[in-house]
Amino acid sequence: MNQGKRVLLIVAGGIAAYKSLELIRLLRARGISVRCVLTRAGARFVTPLSLSSLSEDKVYEDLFELTGESEMGHIEFSRDADLLVVAPATADILAKMRAGIADDLATTTLLATDKPVMVAPAMNVRMWEHAATRENMAVLRERGVLEVGPDEGDMACGEYGFGRMSEPAAIAEAIGFFFQTSDRLKGRRAIVTSGPTVEAIDPVRYIANRSSGRQGHAIARALAAEGAETVLVTGPTTLPDPANMTVVHVNSADEMLKATQDALPADIVVCAAAVADWRVDRRADRKIKKNGSTPDLKLVENPDILATLSSASPNRARLVVGFAAETGDVIDQAAAKRAKKGCDWIVANDVSPETETFGGGDNTVHVIDDAGVEDWPTMSKERVGARLAARIADHLAGGGAAE
Ligand code: C5P
Repeated sequence: MNQGKRVLLIVAGGIAAYKSLELIRLLRARGISVRCVLTRAGARFVTPLSLSSLSEDKVYEDLFELTGESEMGHIEFSRDADLLVVAPATADILAKMRAGIADDLATTTLLATDKPVMVAPAMNVRMWEHAATRENMAVLRERGVLEVGPDEGDMACGEYGFGRMSEPAAIAEAIGFFFQTSDRLKGRRAIVTSGPTVEAIDPVRYIANRSSGRQGHAIARALAAEGAETVLVTGPTTLPDPANMTVVHVNSADEMLKATQDALPADIVVCAAAVADWRVDRRADRKIKKNGSTPDLKLVENPDILATLSSASPNRARLVVGFAAETGDVIDQAAAKRAKKGCDWIVANDVSPETETFGGGDNTVHVIDDAGVEDWPTMSKERVGARLAARIADHLAGGGAAE
């Protein structure tokens, strides 16, 4: 499906520029052609020759190169690809994109394009966390700019944290995924719950859990990519809002239940949120003071969103999918949960600490339905989302299991 797709890769100035060489190779291996724009700063890290050798195309560095007879003008140039990818995307180029500055070929291209843009940020953790960059990213996201990463890890500058450019394989996967959109779920409506819920104890304290929302968000993206009109109901996460869907932000389980019910009717419901089982019975209106005695928190059970949406009602979705995060006897526990909650499929995953599923990038799941248990190999949460969406599309089309 990627054959014939064209990426315009903008390589800005960062140490991660060397990873863009591998990115070109990976994209071409997927049948995607790559044309490169190298900024002046980028050229200090990689040479035009390496980029042109790998892309087998001319590398563009200067705005005025586009004025020659044989070349196209900058507007045409900016629209001659299916997707623009900025990797590495430095704090500087993100700021220019946000502000609409067009002072070289890369930024002029980004301002003139009418094509989707994806950025792979790469910078020092302090620059990434700086309010200016956060604000720039928030604005870009709102404008529909897609992002991949950054990752957390050791940095070239010796510090540790978020800001490292995602690995070329992850960027290539995101680009491949972008091109994989289909319309198999066109006309269907999907609701996905994701992330944790947080249950307030008082105005400053809360009960929460370790869910990152990565799996739920990936499922929502995959369903939208298959053409479903998607509503993502999410608890607080650090993830960007995915494009092409309605995102409803909630805090508590009560709010999540209400938001999902408000989003009905739907054809597909996927409950991937890690809903807190309990909330405090009576939330204090003011901060509870430390006065020598420990507060007696009485907990009450939260509503079960999955069970509620699985129960028979005129609004019941045709397919309700639950998740079962378990730490032992994964399959048996999940099968019991499927029966108890009344959902159609349950996706079981092992979240024992050693699997690093919570917050990590990979997941190992087993899909349980009426037909039995399907074991999937370990793969990225993005891939799990894509495969699940494909399985859902097959199911609703009346076919068998996907892949
Ligand atoms: O927490 P538990 O293991 O019961 O979660 C299993 C499934 O039920 C998950 O799909 C989760 O999203 C859903 N759930 C829910 N509302 C709850 C608890 C869990 O929707 N209150």
